[in-house]
Amino acid sequence: MANRMAIELRDDVYRRPLETATERLEIAAGWTCVDVGAGGGDVSVALGKIVGPSGRVFAVDIDPKRRDQVAEIAARETQVIALTQAAEEMMLPEKVDLAFCRFLLLQVVDPIVVIQRMASVVKDNGWIVIQEAVTSAGRIGESAMSTLNGTMRHPDIGIMVPRIIRQLGFEMTDCWAEAPIGLGDTPESRYLEAMTEVLVTDEPVMLPPLVTTIARVPK
Ligand SMILES: C[S@@+](CC[C@H](N)C(=O)[O-])C[C@H]1O[C@@H](n2cnc3c(N)ncnc32)[C@H](O)[C@@H]1O
Repeated sequence: MANRMAIELRDDVYRRPLETATERLEIAAGWTCVDVGAGGGDVSVALGKIVGPSGRVFAVDIDPKRRDQVAEIAARETQVIALTQAAEEMMLPEKVDLAFCRFLLLQVVDPIVVIQRMASVVKDNGWIVIQEAVTSAGRIGESAMSTLNGTMRHPDIGIMVPRIIRQLGFEMTDCWAEAPIGLGDTPESRYLEAMTEVLVTDEPVMLPPLVTTIARVPK
């Protein structure tokens, strides 16, 4: 797991795709959501601010330490409720309008099982948003970035998600990729340094693109 500084930098550099997704889907006050594999709660808090006091966000993570972190946030964002559960066996007290995951499927044993489980907790005609990276597509200058070190089960899952969505019979309504790029001493180069201990300031750094897939779960 990345250290705290790397996590904070990641939240920073990948915040724009999160905003794009919430705006394109037009998430609104009063929605109920689940953030699956919530980690430190960056997505949960962003969703919580949008859905407001009349909405609710369940922040689900397999790691109990994460629940404690999110619980801290929940004290401030009262509509965020932290639960310790495996995504594969997730059970919520109510069906939700939206199931969201970011940087989760690259870690799990079987992404298809997790996506099916996400769909099972969504209301009829509700939404799934999946934000996952294509890690091998990162670049330093013209060279492919190698940050994998064999630590991820599915490093390029982002590009596989659209096909999985179709195989499962869900309607993909939107899909795009966004990659943070920086040159010099930027959050992108500092994130790369936090992950790899290599500081690059004289070449453009393109971090792995994040593919956002939005799908509707039919009745
Ligand atoms: C790379 S972090 C991403 C955190 C957060 N989604 C974000 O984008 O900031 C992945 C998180 O998924 C959690 N996780 C991994 N496997 C899981 C599983 N099978 N079920 C639920 N959570 C899981 C980890 O504990 C970790 O907090």
